[in-house]
Amino acid sequence: MPKIIFLPHKIILPQGAQFESKEGETILNVALRNNVRLEHACEKSCACSTCHCIIRKGFFSLSGWTEKEEDILDKAWGLESESRLSCQAIIGNVDIEVEIPLYNVNYITES
Ligand code: FES
Repeated sequence: MPKIIFLPHKIILPQGAQFESKEGETILNVALRNNVRLEHACEKSCACSTCHCIIRKGFFSLSGWTEKEEDILDKAWGLESESRLSCQAIIGNVDIEVEIPLYNVNYITES
């Protein structure tokens, strides 16, 4: 199965990590199954953008995105052209590399 490589994140994952995905799994589910504490304030219902991540390798191998995901992504901190909501992006058949943004909307509003 494809691997998912999480790049180091100062708070959540200082060393970075690499995991195997299962068929049909989202990026968020791989992270949570491996105790990586990615935020998911709306419980994966495509409503909050706190699970935002940036795909540094393998962007086009992920499942397609919906208009709703695009709308929610627009609210994400640090949005890039290869941003996805990790609760919506299903891993395809190639390894991917994922950057967890330093901040998310929850952090900004609670700070
Ligand atoms: Fe809320 Fe992904 S967990 S949009």
